[in-house]
Amino acid sequence: MKVSIVGTGYVGLTTGSLLAAAGNKVYCIDVDPKKIDIIKEGKAHFYEPGLDEFVNKAISSKNLIPTLDYKEAIPNSEIAIISVGTPTNPDGSLDLSYVFSAAESIIKHMQNGLIIVQKSTVPVGTGREIMKMIEKSGKKASVVSCPEFLSEGSAVFDTFNLDRLVVGSDNKKAMTEVVGLFKSLDQFSKTLDLSKYKEFSEIYKKKTKLNTDIPFEERVLYLGLESAEMVKITANAYLATKISFANSIARICDKVGADSSEVMEGIGRDQRIGRDFLYPGLGWGGGCFPKDTSGLLFLANENGLNFAQLQATISINESQSDYVAAKIQGALNGDLKNRKIGILGLSYKPGTNDTRESPAVKLANKLIKKGAEVTVFDPEAMEEAKSFLAEKIKLADSAKKIFDGSEAVVLATDWPEFLKLNFKDLKSKTKRAVIIDARNKLDKEELKKIGYTYIGIGR
Ligand code: UGA
Repeated sequence: MKVSIVGTGYVGLTTGSLLAAAGNKVYCIDVDPKKIDIIKEGKAHFYEPGLDEFVNKAISSKNLIPTLDYKEAIPNSEIAIISVGTPTNPDGSLDLSYVFSAAESIIKHMQNGLIIVQKSTVPVGTGREIMKMIEKSGKKASVVSCPEFLSEGSAVFDTFNLDRLVVGSDNKKAMTEVVGLFKSLDQFSKTLDLSKYKEFSEIYKKKTKLNTDIPFEERVLYLGLESAEMVKITANAYLATKISFANSIARICDKVGADSSEVMEGIGRDQRIGRDFLYPGLGWGGGCFPKDTSGLLFLANENGLNFAQLQATISINESQSDYVAAKIQGALNGDLKNRKIGILGLSYKPGTNDTRESPAVKLANKLIKKGAEVTVFDPEAMEEAKSFLAEKIKLADSAKKIFDGSEAVVLATDWPEFLKLNFKDLKSKTKRAVIIDARNKLDKEELKKIGYTYIGIGR
C-alpha cells in the first residue's frame, strides 16, 4: 500500500520503516530537517535497538521516502498515519497542537477517499474533532483510531509481535483497509527470526509470549472510535497502577521483613493477576506513563469525576524516589552531606537513551540537593541526561568508575550490562561496600556473601 506517516519518533519511524521493509511504499514526514537528513542516511535519529537495520533496508529499497513536504507525500497515499508528539500542558491536559496541525496539512493536500489513521496518544474525542475538520473542508475522508502499544527499547519486536491490533472508527471498510496494512507486517515477520529483537522485551515480564502463532485476524479488535481512543490511556493507567501497587507493597515488605520479589512471584502465579509489570523499583517514568496518567486524570476531572485511585497511583510514584533517597540516607547513618554516591543508569528504563521523567535523574538531583557528591554513568543516555542533571553532578566514563571511592552505589536503571559487573573485584575500589538495588535485579545473597551491605526495594 502507499502510506504517509507524520512524525518520525519511536512510533512513526518504527512503524514507517517496518512497513516499508515489508514492501509498502512509505513517506515519512517530519518538520525537522535534521531528523529527515539522518533518516535519509539509513539510520534512526534516536537509540532504539534493531531499528537501524530496518531503516537502512527500507531506504536502500527506496520504499521509505523521508520528506519535509506534505505535498509530495499525501496526494500519493491511500492511508495517512498521524504519530506526532502530544506533550503535557502545565494543567495536566495534553497539548494537541501538533496533532491538529498535522491533520490540517493532511486535509489540505489530500484527495477524496483518504483514510486518516490517528496513532498519537490523544484524549477521547480527538478523532471526532478531526472528522469535523474534514467535514468543514468539504472533502471526503475517513478517520480510524489505531492506538500504539509498543514499548521503547523493544519497539521493533513489539511492532512485529502484536498481541492485539485495535482499530476504532464509524467506517468498517476503512478499518479493514488499515488491518490489511498491518497484516503485511505480520506476514513479513514470518520471514524473520524475531528472537533477535527481544532482548529488552523481557525486562519487566516473566516471559515474552510469541503472538505470531495466533492467526492475525484473531488478534484484531474492531471498536468504536471513542472506545479505541480510551483503550490506549486505560492500558497505560492500569500498567502504571500495577507498578505503584507493587511499590506500595514493597514499602510494607521493608517494614515486616518480607521479600517483595518473593511476594510478587507468589501473586504473579495467579493467572488473574499475572507476573508482568509487578517489579518494584524507583518508580515509572518516560514519555508515556506520566503523560497518560495525568491526561486521564484531567479527563476524569473535566467530566466531574473523582478518580481517586489514579490520583493515588501518581502520588505513590511521585514519592518513590524520595523513598529510595531516604533508604540511601539511612544506609549512610542518616547523613548525606559530602557522601560519595555512584549512580548506575540515567535513562528511564533499559534499552533506550530517553531520559524524559527519568526516576534515575530525579534521584541524582535529589541526592545533590541533600549535599551528597554524586557521580553517574549510563551506557546510552549521558548526552540526553546532561540538560536535566544538576550542574554539580559528575559524569563517569564507565560503570566501573562509579565504584571508585563510593560510599554507596545505586542501581537506578537495570541495564543488563550492570547486572553482569564483577561486584567482587569492584568491592576493593569502594570506600564502603553498600549497594542500593533500586530495581531489585541483583543477586542479594551473592552480594551479601561478597561482603556488601545490600538494600533492595522491599527486600
Ligand atoms: C509504555 C507501555 O508499556 C506501552 O505499552 C505503551 O505503548 C507506551 O508506554 C506508550 O504509551 O507509548 P514505555 O513507556 O516505553 O511503554 O515503557 P515501559 O516498559 O512500560 O516502562 C515504563 C516505566 O515503568 C519505566 O520507567 C520502567 O522502569 C517502569 N516499570 C515498568 C517499573 O518500574 N516496574 C515494572 O514492573 C514495569
